[in-house]
Amino acid sequence: MALPERFLDELIARTDIVDLVSESVRLTKKGNSYWGCCPFHSEKTPSFHVVPDRQIYKCFGCGKGGGAINFVMEMENLPFRDAVAVLAKRAGMAVPEFGGGSSAGMRERRDKLLEINKQAARAFHRWLYAPEGAGGLAYLQRRGLSKATLTNFGLGFAPDSWDALIRELSQQGYDKRDLLDAGLAVSNKDGRIYDRFRNRVMFPIIDVRGNVIGFGGRVMDDSTPKYLNSPDTPVYNKSRNVFALNIAKKSKESRVILTEGYMDTISLHQAGFDSAVASLGTSLTEEHAQLLSRYFKEAVISYDGDKAGVAAAQRAIPLLEKAGLKVKVLRVTGAKDPDEFIKAYGRDAFARLLDKSENQVDYRLAQIQAKYDLEDDGQRVAFLQEAAQMISTLHSAVEREIYGGHAAQTAGVTPETMAQEVNRALKSRLRKEKKQQERRDLAPASQLQPKNRGLRYENIRSARAEEGILRLVLLDPSLLAKMEGLTGSEFSSPLLGKVFNLLRRRAEEGLSTHLAALAEELTGEEMDHMAQVAAQPESMARAEQSIRDYISVIRGEGLLRSGGRADDLLLAAQKKYLEKKAYMEEKP
Ligand code: CTP
Ligand code: MN
Repeated sequence: MALPERFLDELIARTDIVDLVSESVRLTKKGNSYWGCCPFHSEKTPSFHVVPDRQIYKCFGCGKGGGAINFVMEMENLPFRDAVAVLAKRAGMAVPEFGGGSSAGMRERRDKLLEINKQAARAFHRWLYAPEGAGGLAYLQRRGLSKATLTNFGLGFAPDSWDALIRELSQQGYDKRDLLDAGLAVSNKDGRIYDRFRNRVMFPIIDVRGNVIGFGGRVMDDSTPKYLNSPDTPVYNKSRNVFALNIAKKSKESRVILTEGYMDTISLHQAGFDSAVASLGTSLTEEHAQLLSRYFKEAVISYDGDKAGVAAAQRAIPLLEKAGLKVKVLRVTGAKDPDEFIKAYGRDAFARLLDKSENQVDYRLAQIQAKYDLEDDGQRVAFLQEAAQMISTLHSAVEREIYGGHAAQTAGVTPETMAQEVNRALKSRLRKEKKQQERRDLAPASQLQPKNRGLRYENIRSARAEEGILRLVLLDPSLLAKMEGLTGSEFSSPLLGKVFNLLRRRAEEGLSTHLAALAEELTGEEMDHMAQVAAQPESMARAEQSIRDYISVIRGEGLLRSGGRADDLLLAAQKKYLEKKAYMEEKP
């Protein structure tokens, strides 16, 4: 059975969105609602809106929105169930036991996959010290890893066998489905399964709560692929997890060292840099950055010195900044990557690199500089213009002055000249932004469009009326009795229609019709959009008249949409008439 609906209702009734949000965001009251700085993206002027009479929050900056349950899901990066548990505890309610049911089933499935991963990690670690793991152990020792490091990171070895792990885990009672779902086995076209990881040293990937969620496995020679990683599974998503954060999060450092690889991170830890992490063979995502910003204030990007590393650093900078982290870039010189650097020059040399790591603005300036030959007057002008463009995007005047000075010095012009260039770039950008804003203001219809393309409205006029209906119902569900038999299938927007049907069903069953109650049925993006819809003003004064108007728009537009069919009917009638006429004329 799924979570009892009454329980959810009670939970939502006992949780006030303003109290909840106030625990992590400073809110200021304005009229009937509250404003604060959004906890989901970095900002200085408040665009995060909390509306008590609708029990929702909505950020007009990043678009996130929803009810109490969504807030906890977003804030703590939790699945629905766990967010409910957090809120229940806060409200002093006992979470009922869940038996089967869809989402309870999901939770059990996740728990099982985590358990199987844990058992696999144990087996891999044990094999590292067994006779069949001798090669793996020798390899890791050759790379300079100490026994303590092997233990800390739980490193292991997957034997050179098609089914060592399958046999091990089958004995423990896991079946084929479990092994495949956990990404530990793969099946061939006859449906037979074999171990995914064979003859590789194994790096378990552990999340911040200490769960083993996946693995990376490295070959011990030059064969390819060098690394094989777990696929995305119900418990592992590579764009959401960062390697070694389970250890780094305990560091006293406020700066995280961001590397590209398993070995770089492990080497750094062994050398005493305990805040190193790695994004796993993917470029850094916004989710990675958000996750890191929960534990650190500053990030030092310490990627490989090659072209790919530089490009990856350039991409990572804005994402980390957006998450509110101060960003520096460390340039590894004289070695391919941090691991090799430490091996070649020692830990103190790396500590010096770390202290010398450039502020990201200087780093970007250096990247721009590298594109031009400053001996050439024409190129020098181009350099200054591009540098001014970049500097004009910095938020504070002080920063613009300081880095403008750096650029001026590089190009051999006076700081005043550079300041003028920066100002020109700044003004032209502000003008452009203002124009864009005006265009947006003049086109409210397009502004109304959901951010997510998949949710785009086909018929804006109808969708606005549908939104109005939903707002009224959310404010006063008794209005559902006045809907003239309207159903969600008459809506032009599938999402709005679905929400209407859900609310109607809930009202019929006497359940809560707060948006928060739909947290399980809507995706995060759908919820973001619904909060946006609910946050718009709506007058209750003439609610019944509004309903009639909205419904007539919805039905009118609906008729126009089925216009194609009406034409067909006309055509068919005309054809029949002509046939009949021809028949009559044929007749003598
Ligand atoms: N990676 C991957 N698949 C590959 C190659 C790399 O997933 N075929 C990921 C791994 O997470 C790896 C990271 O990208 O750690 C960086 O790759 P690379 O620099 O090639 O590896 P190193 O971490 O430096 O490993 P090593 O020192 O053992 O070569
Ligand atoms: Mn390496």
